Amino acid sequence: MKYKRSISPSLLAADYGYLADAALQAEAGGAGSLHLDYMDGHYVPNLSFGIDLIPALKKRVRIPLMAHLMISNTEKRVDDFIRVHPDYIVFQEDAVGDVGMLIEKIKNNGIKTGIAINPSRPLSHIKDYLPHTDHLLILGVNPGFGGQKFMVETLKKMKEAHEFRVKNRLPYDIAVDGGVNLETAGNILKTGVNILVAGTAVFGKDDIRVAIETIASL
Ligand code: DX5
Ligand code: ZN
Repeated sequence: MKYKRSISPSLLAADYGYLADAALQAEAGGAGSLHLDYMDGHYVPNLSFGIDLIPALKKRVRIPLMAHLMISNTEKRVDDFIRVHPDYIVFQEDAVGDVGMLIEKIKNNGIKTGIAINPSRPLSHIKDYLPHTDHLLILGVNPGFGGQKFMVETLKKMKEAHEFRVKNRLPYDIAVDGGVNLETAGNILKTGVNILVAGTAVFGKDDIRVAIETIASL
């Protein structure tokens, strides 16, 4: 099975005075999707966008929107996200009681699913669900803030997740989120990961297109 490589810029690092411009530039620059970090000030000690960003962006860009929920009580709040219908809802597995049920619910509403896993959590917690998800998001930092240093110890989990999908012929994408930049991306890609989420390394640069192309060329 072939796993398509792409870059998913994280809008968390964009200039909020020009969010739509940033999204458009990422799309024009070759981004495969847009990564939207939802933070509730509780699951993580930071607040980010509101739900209405999703319909606003849908009017502007065509690439898939991935809502990465870093929120407590995910199962209670997910209906709000289902209503605005991003292309993917990616949830933190440790913020959910019944991962299988949540996957079913999101899928039944015609939205793709993603499971996000923090650096300290082993893959064994979620292996049973991998056959049922579209996307696996491996955090390379403890979530909450952009611009953090990549934790090299997470590389092992990436390799394990890739070997597992190859061995079992599973189609889920593996994305890495947090600390992805020109220094770290090479080793991340070597593990077999196929999507790179990058905030600072894309929107922190003067030329968004060049930043995306440079990471994509690795
Ligand atoms: C981390 C977020 C990331 C963040 C990545 O809490 O989930 O998506 O935006 O930012 P960079 O690429 O700057 O590490
Ligand atoms: Zn994220």
